[in-house]
Formats: sequence, structure tokens, C-alpha cells
Amino acid sequence: MAWEPKRRKAPPFLNNYWQRQLYMVGCVGSSRFDELYQPSWAMDHFTYEGEVLKMKLDNYSGAGFSSKSKYMFGKVTVQIKLVEGDSAGTVTAFYMSSDGPYHNEFDFEFLGNTTGEPYLVQTNVYVNGVGNREQRLKLWFDPTKDFHSYSFLWNQRQVVFLVDETPVRVHSNLEHKGIPYPKDQAMGVYSSIWNADDWATQGGRVKTDWSHAPFIASYRGFEINCCECPDAVAAVDNMRRCSSGGWWDQPTLSELSLHQSHQLLWVRANHMVYDYCSDAARFPATPVECQHHHH
Ligand SMILES: *[C@@H]1O[C@H](CO)[C@@H](O)[C@H](O)[C@H]1NC(C)=O
Repeated sequence: MAWEPKRRKAPPFLNNYWQRQLYMVGCVGSSRFDELYQPSWAMDHFTYEGEVLKMKLDNYSGAGFSSKSKYMFGKVTVQIKLVEGDSAGTVTAFYMSSDGPYHNEFDFEFLGNTTGEPYLVQTNVYVNGVGNREQRLKLWFDPTKDFHSYSFLWNQRQVVFLVDETPVRVHSNLEHKGIPYPKDQAMGVYSSIWNADDWATQGGRVKTDWSHAPFIASYRGFEINCCECPDAVAAVDNMRRCSSGGWWDQPTLSELSLHQSHQLLWVRANHMVYDYCSDAARFPATPVECQHHHH
């Protein structure tokens, strides 16, 4: 990755940062939770069992964690085992987001269900503070039985949402058509579990059954292989440094491979239950980026 020579002596955290980057190149290893993340609320709703982190929702509180740093471009992965049994009314989210009123955001939201009924995975993309780009999938496996990996691959050409390395959504850079693309704000990585029984399960008809609490989501396999944007470095400098030379800029990652395109077609044909692009009741005029998607 490109690293501009510093005019001033780098403060110690940058040396650590640089060492971490050296270590990361060509080496995708997962880290301990506390190397990359910290609980952001309800510390008493976290437990650690070896390499597994558990976060619980009960009628007192949900819980959430956030990355210690912000990033631009690269790949973020976590393995999650969702709430077993009755998870109706609960939502577990894994997302990346920048700050401020014109923020960008990429979301996986796992919508719980009553015992034996399928979880839904809702994805969304916010650009410059505007979302309303929901898609919903039923997964091809039961996400409560085992850990599965969920990732965002983000570069200047595309944002790819992956489930066990299978692409389930692509948000392409269509700036040449005048459509804004998220590529100028560093993003943090977040996860949380909370009660959303006003909308989550069957449109809010099924409420959370608190007699089945606590609702527990489990995590492991934390990987952030991205360009780090330390808070202490000016945003323009982070952007300049992260905008060229990363492994994510290689031409083969500027679009899906043929195999991945076939996988995405299979997901869309067999597992997608909702796509904002084809919701004419909600969007009488087809959203502009949908008119240009090849997928
Ligand atoms: C819950 O299960 C019902 C019945 O199978 C299904 O229609 C619904 O899409 C599932 N998911 C959610 C989040 O409501």
C-alpha cells in the first residue's frame, strides 16, 4: 500500500499502524475481538468464551460494539451465529458507517423470527445520508445453527456484500452516470442487537416474547483488512493515502468474477424476497441506480 513519506517524525501510534499494515499484507488472519473492537454500550451484556464473543438482548437492554478505528476501502468480515430458537422481534445488525448528516453506510440486518421460521437478512446502502435501498434475502442455511461469515468488500469501483464468500449484493460505482458513490468518508465497523418488534418480524405483527430472553448473538473470526484512517490524521491525508495502492484496487476486484456473477444471479433468483429496485408502489419512478444495474 502507498505510504507517503512523513515530513515530520511519525508519532508512535503511526509506527504501530504501519507495523500492523505490514503484517496484514498478504496475511488475512483473524484477530481477537479486543484488538479491533470495543463494546460501545451495555458492557454487562457481553461475555467472552475463548475466541467467541456473546452479546445479549434482554428486557433491560440490547448491546453493541464498534471498531476502535475508522477505515477506507478493503474488506471487513465477521462470523456470526444468530439468536437460536425464538428470535422474533429482535434485530442483529453488522454494518459500516461514517459519521455526520451526510454519512455513508452499508448494512446487514438480521431480522429474527419465531422458532423454526426463517431469519431474513436485510441489506441497505446509504449514500450521503440517504438510504431506502433495502433488499431482503432468505439464506440458504439456518444462520442460528452455526457460525457463518458476513463481509463487506469495499473499493472505488464497488461495494460487495458477501455471505460465506458468496456475493449477495453489489453496489457499483456509477459516478460516470452522475450517481454519487461512497468513497470519500472513512467508516467505522459496528454491530448491535436490539428490540425492533415494531417492524422486524412479519412487518411488526409478531412481538418479542421476553419469556424467551436473553437473546444471544455469538461472534468470532474478526477480520479487518482495510486502510486504517487514524482520527489524528487529517481526513484529506487519510483519503489520499487510502485511495491508491491498496490490494483492493487490483483490477480483478473492480467487478465480480464470472463465477461470482453466477453466484449472485443464483442468490437473486432463489433467495431474494424483496428488492427496492422492483418496488413500484414505493418508488413510482425506478431509483436511478437501479436503471443501470446489470444484475
Ligand atoms: C418469518 O417467518 C414467516 C413465515 O415463514 C415469513 O413469512 C417471514 O418472512 C419470516 N421473517 C420475518 C423477518 O418476518
